[in-house]
Amino acid sequence: MASTEHKDLAAFIKSVHSNLRKESQIYGPETAWRRHVAESDTLQKYAEAMQKLATKHWAENVADPKKNTKCRIDWVKSQCWEYFFRGGIELFWDREVNINRKITNDQSHSGISTYQEWSDSENSTSGLSDGLICSNSELTPVDDKDTPDLKKSLNKHCSMKPSTKFEKSTENNLQISNNEHDSSIVQASHREDCKVKLLDVGSCYNPFGGVNFFDVTAIDLAPSCDGVLQCDFLSMQIGQEDVFSANKQQVEQLTVGSFDTVVFCLLLEYLPSPEQRYACCKKAYNLLKSGGLLLIITPDSKHVGANARFMKSWRYVLSNLGFMRTKYEKLPHAHCLAFRKCFYKRVATRWASLQKFSKDDELFHSDTNIFIPQDFTTWTREDTVECVSGDKKADVNFYNELPYT
Ligand SMILES: C[S@@+](CC[C@H](N)C(=O)[O-])C[C@H]1O[C@@H](n2cnc3c(N)ncnc32)[C@H](O)[C@@H]1O
Repeated sequence: MASTEHKDLAAFIKSVHSNLRKESQIYGPETAWRRHVAESDTLQKYAEAMQKLATKHWAENVADPKKNTKCRIDWVKSQCWEYFFRGGIELFWDREVNINRKITNDQSHSGISTYQEWSDSENSTSGLSDGLICSNSELTPVDDKDTPDLKKSLNKHCSMKPSTKFEKSTENNLQISNNEHDSSIVQASHREDCKVKLLDVGSCYNPFGGVNFFDVTAIDLAPSCDGVLQCDFLSMQIGQEDVFSANKQQVEQLTVGSFDTVVFCLLLEYLPSPEQRYACCKKAYNLLKSGGLLLIITPDSKHVGANARFMKSWRYVLSNLGFMRTKYEKLPHAHCLAFRKCFYKRVATRWASLQKFSKDDELFHSDTNIFIPQDFTTWTREDTVECVSGDKKADVNFYNELPYT
């Protein structure tokens, strides 16, 4: 049973979300967003409420073995661990090469077919960057016409080379924690130079800050603690170098192709329009190295099938952007998704091209919209937030009941 404080915090957070969505319908998403980011008192209050809710109330639920709940933060840690240190990146590299070969029907294809072969050829060639292959294009997705000419494709921003940077798990001391308060998440005693460069967008209280195999850049509209930099991801620039404000507390620009992982944990549904959510995903694409992961956690307390169409439409849009889905898990109160930025964009878009959708299904009418159920809610113009139709409950239960830390 939720305490009064828990309920009050959740109610405040939900009211901020609802008001932003309502204003977006009334004034348009850009005006609504401008007004929202100018409300510094509300943003600060939201940050404090969110931190308290997550670190106090949700943490208590996770620690309660009777509730059998999984923690979204642990989910992100374990995905990164499996992918970067336990062979996931090699597995998906090989899969990508094989699919690409099938698509192009070109068996000769540089003579390279597996991750190991590529890695060996890389090591034996002097003068190459130490990076996993990455898009030549700086701010646009890898073009379909990109050839598998690996040397040509190396990019100075790429430093991800799993065979050396992310050593195999045997070289790291992997332990499964027995501490029930720790949700059995992997802990690794880790070499300092083997860190996953992670961008946490909408970080709030920097939940990944203490993880020893992450090198975290945490950003938020309104940081709730030191270590989180102020930044509106929607207006942040992407360029050739990181740019910070004079006092180093704000991020103005981040470097293209410089992150191994971008995390959107309870971020996308905060944004009031499908176009803004898409803009964030595209930014994540451009900030990631090829082979990097976009991890998305989005709240939904309903059963797995209830909003499956939405999840499929996300996959469709992200596939067209150049992402291959590598993992999907429905937890009791959230969908958890992992997408890999493909080197061969055609491998990613192939999935979308094979799908058949009803012409009437508006979720699939556009390549540049990430819809959530709340988009189909109609609001009245009254001052109080009042739902007249549609599903505004998708994340309401989440914040009420959510047992995540
Ligand atoms: C629901 S909270 C989630 C906090 C944290 N990620 C977690 O899982 O506990 C959403 C956060 O996203 C931040 N946010 C929303 N839009 C943002 C944007 N455009 N740029 C940066 N942060 C944003 C909000 O300020 C808020 O702290």
